[in-house]
Amino acid sequence: MENKQKKGIAIVGYGGMGSHHGRMIEPLEEAYVCGTFDIKEDRQQAAKEAGLSPYPSFEAVLAAPEVDIVLIATPNDVHKEIAIAAMNAGKHVICEKPVTMHCKDLQEMLDCAEKNHVVFSVHQNRRWDEDFRTMQEAIDSGLLGRVFRLESRVHGCRGIPGDWRQKKEHGGGMLLDWGVHIIDQMLLMVPEKITHVFCRFDHITNDEVDDGFECTLWFESGVTAYLQVGTSNFINLPRWYVQGHNGSAIIEDWNQPCKTVYATGAPEGDATPIVTAAGLTKTMAPRNDENIQKKEFPIVRCDVRDFYRNFVAAIDGKEPQAVRNDQVMRVLRLLEVLHESDEKRQILPFEK
Ligand SMILES: NC(=O)c1ccc[n+]([C@@H]2O[C@H](COP(=O)([O-])OP(=O)(O)OC[C@H]3O[C@@H](n4cnc5c(N)ncnc54)[C@H](O)[C@@H]3O)[C@@H](O)[C@H]2O)c1
Repeated sequence: MENKQKKGIAIVGYGGMGSHHGRMIEPLEEAYVCGTFDIKEDRQQAAKEAGLSPYPSFEAVLAAPEVDIVLIATPNDVHKEIAIAAMNAGKHVICEKPVTMHCKDLQEMLDCAEKNHVVFSVHQNRRWDEDFRTMQEAIDSGLLGRVFRLESRVHGCRGIPGDWRQKKEHGGGMLLDWGVHIIDQMLLMVPEKITHVFCRFDHITNDEVDDGFECTLWFESGVTAYLQVGTSNFINLPRWYVQGHNGSAIIEDWNQPCKTVYATGAPEGDATPIVTAAGLTKTMAPRNDENIQKKEFPIVRCDVRDFYRNFVAAIDGKEPQAVRNDQVMRVLRLLEVLHESDEKRQILPFEK
């Protein structure tokens, strides 16, 4: 397809994620990268080397008629000013996550989009992560029965990477970085009001911002979700662990299928005890084979490029936005309360 029939995307902030966007957009039929802009000269050069055309300034991006969409992939603290300038210049905007650090800033961005009649969306790309979709399919199969507990973890052992992610003023910290993804996923999985939340930050390698966190969300029906991000985990716990009244499901790691074990009848009368060095237990003995079934759910394949395709379709009025701004606002409100919960060392109410 000719470029003039495609939407032109200018990537502002051509670092790690900006260059990833360049590679992801390249094969699209609906859009193309018409240029980039980065405040660092070496990143302008890197764009050139990747076959892209860097604009000489941000003002030049705003003035360029071929730019339909500004895609913001800068550190978090400058998302808002870039988004507002772009929307006031009549550009549609895709903003990297976390969209910003405070709800009031997001509200200003949404008001600006409305005033200028442009489409604004946030790149919550991990909605297209295969582990998330695979676990969702296992839950939707009904084999687990009514789900009462979900655990979602992301573990690494390299501390906080890069420079700005370690600084509060730039919107650093793992709750804003990874938390925003796994919380967004969890709120899609459990479509209920949240009544209470608790969060505790880790400061193992960094005092200024959290280098990991754990949090619990209590939902209206009694379902609980536990989310954890760690950057000092030399042995990873499973990516997902979900319990229902009739079965359990686990995804051990990225790019793994979902293993489920579920009951096919009531527990047999008498269990064969497990004998350990210091005693025996019938309570913790597994069920007999005739009482359970195992099923593996293969990885659900998805295409994260559907995010960009949907954004273009939303501009053309053909599809509703896949990542809705009210959903993004809800996650941001939750992040604010999770910060407060850590500060106060308290369980706090939410959406009551
Ligand atoms: N959705 C995802 O999966 C994902 C993954 C990684 C990063 N991100 C997000 O992408 C954004 C960038 O992260 P990164 O890892 O690429 O950071 P990075 O440090 O690798 O790149 C940021 C780039 O922005 C440039 N920059 C800074 N201020 C600018 C400005 N005012 N105008 C133009 N350029 C500017 C920097 O020079 C740098 O090259 C962050 O918001 C981050 O949270 C999202």
